[in-house]
Amino acid sequence: MCGIVGAVAQRNVQGILREGLLRLEYRGYDSAGMVVRGTDGRLQRRRALGKVAALEEKLEASPLTGHSGIAHTRWATHGRPSEENAHPHQSGERLAVVHNGIIENHEALRAELESADYDFTSQTDTEVIAHLIEREARAVDLLTAVQTVIARLDGAYALGVIHANEPDVVIGARKGSPLVVGVGIEEAFLASDPLALLQVTDRFIYLEEGDVVRLSAGGGIEVFDASGQVVEREIQTFEHGDGSASKGDYRHFMLKEIHEQPAVIAETLEGRLGDRSVLVESFGPGAEALFSRAAQIHLVACGTSYHAGLVARYWLERYAGIPVQVEVASEYRYRQVVVPENTLFVTLSQSGETADTLAALRFAKKSGYLGSLAICNVPGSSLARESDLTLMTRAGPEIGVASTKAFTTQLTALMLLTLALGRVHGQDEEEQASLVEALRRLPAQVERVLALDAQIEDLSTAFAEKHHALFLGRGAHFPVALEGALKLKEISYIHAEAYPAGELKHGPLALVDSDMPVVSVAPNDELLDKLKSNLQEVRARGGELFVFADEGVGLSSDDGIRVLHLPPIEEALAPILYTLPLQLLSYHVAVLKGTDVDQPRNLAKSVTVE
Ligand code: G6P
Repeated sequence: MCGIVGAVAQRNVQGILREGLLRLEYRGYDSAGMVVRGTDGRLQRRRALGKVAALEEKLEASPLTGHSGIAHTRWATHGRPSEENAHPHQSGERLAVVHNGIIENHEALRAELESADYDFTSQTDTEVIAHLIEREARAVDLLTAVQTVIARLDGAYALGVIHANEPDVVIGARKGSPLVVGVGIEEAFLASDPLALLQVTDRFIYLEEGDVVRLSAGGGIEVFDASGQVVEREIQTFEHGDGSASKGDYRHFMLKEIHEQPAVIAETLEGRLGDRSVLVESFGPGAEALFSRAAQIHLVACGTSYHAGLVARYWLERYAGIPVQVEVASEYRYRQVVVPENTLFVTLSQSGETADTLAALRFAKKSGYLGSLAICNVPGSSLARESDLTLMTRAGPEIGVASTKAFTTQLTALMLLTLALGRVHGQDEEEQASLVEALRRLPAQVERVLALDAQIEDLSTAFAEKHHALFLGRGAHFPVALEGALKLKEISYIHAEAYPAGELKHGPLALVDSDMPVVSVAPNDELLDKLKSNLQEVRARGGELFVFADEGVGLSSDDGIRVLHLPPIEEALAPILYTLPLQLLSYHVAVLKGTDVDQPRNLAKSVTVE
């Protein structure tokens, strides 16, 4: 969603804020802005519609100088993308605010402020916060004003606030949206994501729900909890190397992240495999006891993470014998869920901050589950902190909005979960040992599939002019097809749908003609013959088929069918391997179409609003 950066530094903060915005741009990118408190004590603001580059141009023409400031990159919720709606929002000349999240009672607050003669210059919900704080700060210091105002806000927020009257002070506050404090050397920073600050520090305080922080000159950091008491929060060192925030030799972050998969899958496995079984302790102390009681699993996630959950259902039921329900978080959280005894609640999230997934976890914690496990990529994220058990996916920061390495590392982690549960629930030892061995070989197999890049790029030309595409799979490869279709629509804007291949004749077959490319994955599994018949149904209707198939399944290119062979893989791990060509296909189609691959229109990397 939107990105926040703030700084109180000994040097001029414009460069720090600008770099922070560039690093956060993947979260939201329809407009950006910055306020710096000048050495003359006045607030100076620059805002621009469009990407951070547009703001940079303005800053170049008219730079800002000062030791404290706040900045924002926006993903519109209230009010269309425009300069007037871009943050920071000011109340008069002396108070400025940046905000992530949604203020649900903003209409009532706006009416109250309008009747008190406050003029509104934007359609945002944020502007009410600026006016409310300005009004309070006439009588009290900025910290107290912020504490008073947030008590009146319903909804979710992360805030950065600055006042002309308080030199070298930035106030931050969070509830429902992430906010971290960067601990510098006699300097202090604020951001919605540690990534924004890795150029200035690797030490962070992850603010907790309801926290307010006051940053001041000389590196002053005071944290207050929801009741206003001063609290000590642990300083944590960021684990990921900063290299992740640059594209290296790749044209796009997405391509770089696709090619990182062998390494990050190996990372995700590191230290978690014993000789012949998964080390259950990798899930944390207490995991074995909890897992042995788990009689079923409810798995909740959004977007790509949800697709990972759908794959895992096949694995968990087959190898661990545990019934699984998988649901998107935005549905789950508003349903009257019946929780059978001894149900383990599992969330999947790259960011660990997705509003619906987090709300689902909070709901689940009150609903009589056995316990909660988060499979997550961001250490210190809300989801990781609020779950009983966590398994980190170790994919490193993922910048491309379309998720790639986060998905395959989630699948890897879910296979570890399957085997951990299998182990405590009496899975056959030989089967476990052979899957562990297969996991060890996986990074090298992923590498071999990525080597097919040029051939996949070749296939992509057949898609660039199309308006629609169908993706087919069976069994655990139906969610792989769903993920393939999602990738194509996210970054190439081609309408794509996925179906279980057996469902084709119940409707979608009516769409098949020579204008409808049909993509299918055909690993060598027990459903292969059935899939082949489904593919015949497409060919018989003149549909153009693109099949990623195991080299041993006897499918080859012919009239109306183009086949690309993948190396053999153990059946259980095929969903991970068959995801890769679909990622590369979407990538190359998007490049051919000239879309913004890393920051596709209307989307955001981390959706921290409902
Ligand atoms: C957004 C992103 C998707 C992601 C989804 C869930 O929609 O654009 O790529 O899959 O959020 O995010 P999470 O961080 O919870 O995995």
